[in-house]
Parts: sequence; structure tokens; C-alpha cells
Amino acid sequence: MTDRTLYLASIAHCLEDPGRAAGALELIADGAVLVENGRIVEVGPLSRFSGIESAEVLDYSGLLLIPGLIDCHVHYPQLDIIGSFGEELLDWLERYAYPAELRLADEVYARELADLFVDELIANGTTSALVFATVHAHSADVLFEAALDRDLRLISGKVLMDRGAPEALLDTPARGYAESRALIERWHGRGRLGYAITPRYALTSSEAQLESAGRLAREYPDVWLHTHLAENRREIDAVAEAFPDSPSYLAVYERFGLLRERSVFAHCLHLDERDCKSMARRGAAAAFCPTSNLFLGSGLFDLGRMRTAGVKTGLATDVGAGTSLSMLRTMGEAYKVLKLGDQVLSPADALYLATLGAARALGIDAEVGNLEAGKEADFVLLDADATRLAGHRVAQTGTLDERLFVLMTLGDDRHVRATVVNGRLFDKQDRHTDSNGA
Ligand code: GUN
Ligand code: ZN
Repeated sequence: MTDRTLYLASIAHCLEDPGRAAGALELIADGAVLVENGRIVEVGPLSRFSGIESAEVLDYSGLLLIPGLIDCHVHYPQLDIIGSFGEELLDWLERYAYPAELRLADEVYARELADLFVDELIANGTTSALVFATVHAHSADVLFEAALDRDLRLISGKVLMDRGAPEALLDTPARGYAESRALIERWHGRGRLGYAITPRYALTSSEAQLESAGRLAREYPDVWLHTHLAENRREIDAVAEAFPDSPSYLAVYERFGLLRERSVFAHCLHLDERDCKSMARRGAAAAFCPTSNLFLGSGLFDLGRMRTAGVKTGLATDVGAGTSLSMLRTMGEAYKVLKLGDQVLSPADALYLATLGAARALGIDAEVGNLEAGKEADFVLLDADATRLAGHRVAQTGTLDERLFVLMTLGDDRHVRATVVNGRLFDKQDRHTDSNGA
């Protein structure tokens, strides 16, 4: 039996990078998306669809359908400490992040958080994510299990850290290597899951551990490498002190073979021209984390410079330093960060950073990122009327991209009416949710 579903809604998605190609944002006022066996078969104006008699029609007319949102950097163990007062990065890690991560030594608690986290992703319209776990191998296992259960496209890995943090959060180069290897064998490529070798950042790994991370990266070229880079001035000074022979922070990672395709570096706020060029040349990507960078006072991301250098960039929440799991809110905050740097982020640019651009940054754009036929059916149905003010404001708009801009300025999880994950519908009002859905 085939499973054919026709979704009716207005549609916005990026066919290309709007910063580089005219007509990159496709807007369809009375649109339809045909889904068959978890894949997108056709997208376009409803008036041009033919041969849809056998499809079940789900009528979301009046709502805006966009591709599934992609969070390029987030920490699930930090859900307990979002919005913790008063510190910059290094003190925030000591005072809030590490104590929260210690709690995941308890596997039962880790599973509870992982379940909450993946359900919150779906509630926010996020269908793909690159996620930090903790140093505990089981923290990655329980997250992968939760994601597999909901069919999310999720990339994660156990954190590697052997110094500079509480004793109970440390592993050793040998143990980190062995546990990462076992996790790669168990999870990488299973369903829509992928593995990321995850040294936390240069300050929490010895040279021996970075060396063993590099060995894993060589042995498994198609797994991801996920870490932090150049977020905070004090952090950067400490890295210069810890690695006195290294010409830059990025060069520490480069020396150990960690600068490559499928390397994703969170933040990238304080890089020089040479670093940006190296990242572009090696095919590494930057994760832009506006709510986190504002919250910790870390600095302002320079998207214009990344674009000029050709560095792939995707948007990210970085919860728990980031203050929301909502990619809509993150798009709105990205707009404000760039405004402070005299740059303007159009609604098309913002959508790109949270969908196709993010998919390119993660190297998953053959599967997801927009609504092209053949891609996995990941999309979100946004309802401005979910709150009175957003509904009122949207009623004043004329075009779909204006509507999108209002949604990224005022919107959050309340405006996510439904999320389709690999063809499976999660509708908060349950009206359409099939027997597999939430
Ligand atoms: N640098 C190293 N670890 C972290 C973390 O957990 N959050 C953020 N924002 N930066 C980091
Ligand atoms: Zn982070």
C-alpha cells in the first residue's frame, strides 16, 4: 500500500542561497506538497497538480509551510540551565554547564532529558540537529534512541574531555577513543542518525586526546567533527597560553587533522581573515548562535565576512547558553545581531540559514533543506493566529516574505502548528495526526 498525502498551505522555501542567486526564495500562495512514503514527490501551486485522487488531503490553507528547521549546534544536557544569570563563558561553564552535565551520569535522568529534548525539537519545528551530549557514552546512546524513535535527522556524539573540567566529567584519550569508536559502529548511518566526534573545545582536551580525535576523523572520514571555536576573548587567550606554538585557535584543530569537510565549529566570532579562508578551503562550517552570543556577551557574528570568505554557515540555538530552542526566535535574533554590525538579514536569508544553508553546512542537503522532489519530507506548518498579536500583525502584511519576517520576529513554538518528520505528522491539535504520530 502506498501512503500518499497532499498538504495544502502557502509555501516558502529556498532553492538556492538568496545572497548569491536571484529568485532563490520560492513563494507559493495556494500551494501543495505531495508526500509519498516519507519523500516529497511534488511541490507547487495546487492548481497545477494532477493525479492526486488517491492522496489523503490535509488542508492547512491559511498556514505557512516551510522546510523542517535545522539546528546546527545545541547541547541537550543543558536544558536544566537555560537562562542562568550573570556569567561569561568560562565562569558560566564552571558554575552552570558542568554541574548540569554531571547529572547525566545517571542514565535514567539522561533518558528523561533526551526524551524532553527531542519532543521539544519537534514542538519547535526542528527536524534535523547537530547535538552535544556529555562525556558519558550512555548520554549519546539515549539521545540516539529517542531520535530514532521519532525518526529525526540527528547527529551527535559523546563529548571528549580529559582536562580542565571537574574530575567526574573527564575521560582519557584511550577511553574517549574506544567509546567513540563503539558509538560510531552502533549508530552512524542507522536510520537518519549520524555520529560526530566531539572534543568539547581546545581547553578541555590534551594534545594526546586531540591526536586520538584526529585518528578517529581519519579512520571515519564520513563522520562529523563538532566543537567550539573562538567564542570568547578570555577563552582565546587561554588557548594561546595552552598551545603557545599554535599561530591561532583554529590552527590547534588543524594541526590534529580536525579541520576538514564535515567539521562544524560553533561560534567563530573572533577569527582573522586567514582562519576564515582556511575554513572555506577545507570545507569546514560555522554555526552562528545569536541568542547564545548575546546572552553570554561573547560578541557579534560577522556573516558578511563568512560569506565573502566562502565559509558554509548554518544557524544554531546553542541551548543552554542560547536562550531558546525555537529556530524562529533564533532567526529573529540573528537579524538583530547582524543589524548591530550594519548588515541586513532578509527573511529569505534567515530562512536559508535555518534550512538549506544549514543543511549545506552539515552536508545533508542532498536529503533535506528544502522541498525539492525526492527529498525527505521534513516540513513545518506555521500559524500566525496562534497568538493574537502575531495574527493581527500578519493580517497587515501583503506578501509571504513579509509574513515570514513577522513570524521570525514575533514567532516561537506557539506558532508551530504541526511538524512533519520524514513524512510522519505531529499535529499539536491532533486533528490530522496519524497513528504513528505523537
Ligand atoms: N565552549 C565549550 N563548551 C561550551 C558550552 O557548553 N557552551 C558554549 N556556549 N561554549 C562552550
Ligand atoms: Zn555550544
